[in-house]
Amino acid sequence: MKLATLATGAGLAGPLLAACTKEQQEKINNRPVRREITTAAAAKDIASYQTAITKMKALPQSDPRNWTRQAQIHDQRCRHASWLFFPWHRAYLFYFEKICQELSGDPTFALPYWNWTLNAQIPSVFWDTNSALFHSPRGASASSTASPAFVGAGTVNGILDETNFLLFGGPATVLNDTAQQGPGYGLIEQTPHNYVHGFVGGTMGTFMSPLDPIFWTHHNRVDELWVQWNIVRDNPNTSDGNWVNTEFTEFCDGQGTPVTIKVVSTVLMPFFSYQFDTQVTP
Ligand code: C2O
Repeated sequence: MKLATLATGAGLAGPLLAACTKEQQEKINNRPVRREITTAAAAKDIASYQTAITKMKALPQSDPRNWTRQAQIHDQRCRHASWLFFPWHRAYLFYFEKICQELSGDPTFALPYWNWTLNAQIPSVFWDTNSALFHSPRGASASSTASPAFVGAGTVNGILDETNFLLFGGPATVLNDTAQQGPGYGLIEQTPHNYVHGFVGGTMGTFMSPLDPIFWTHHNRVDELWVQWNIVRDNPNTSDGNWVNTEFTEFCDGQGTPVTIKVVSTVLMPFFSYQFDTQVTP
């Protein structure tokens, strides 16, 4: 039972789950499954993703769910090169997924992820010029192949073997740090994450990278690796209060209402709100 061994606030999820009604438990068990984007099962979610992007682009700038406004959250508030890298981007994707569910009219929508370890070329859905997943400019072409030295199974599994959260996820910083560039990179951020931004290139090489629909599927793979490390392999995150209690205030929910979310809550998201097709659920 992995829920009980969650690093931060250990044992939190177990009692929470036990306190749920039957309907709530059903909802948790049937939470949306984030699928690898090249698998046949991802087709429904790719369609909903396209609908959501088209709707977000059509929203006025005054709506925080507008496509460009969402990218500006990253440009102005992202957290990199510290232990906030994983939780900040998880919360960013969590609320983005809620917005997509709302705007696509598909409440079971789960954001697909691009597993660049298995598929080292940018998946073909991103190259269809009639699709909302198409974006220009990109530096890579449909036949460019990401280097296995950065995204290959040997490299990625080697990083997953690192059991120290401060090395895997990034070094400590202060409570509620808002610095966009922290003291140093964790291994996932530094190696496959940074490399893929540069490999895709174009907008993906800038802080407005979420304008390219690839961004969200790239970060979803990063999130999947955190799930692999923390939940499937059962490595503990840090329990340092400066990490657990840090709050993010820049996101909005599916209705466009501003939210405040703590790092500790992001640890629970893959147990209650979504799951990966690779996730071994307790
Ligand atoms: Cu905040 Cu991959 O970027």
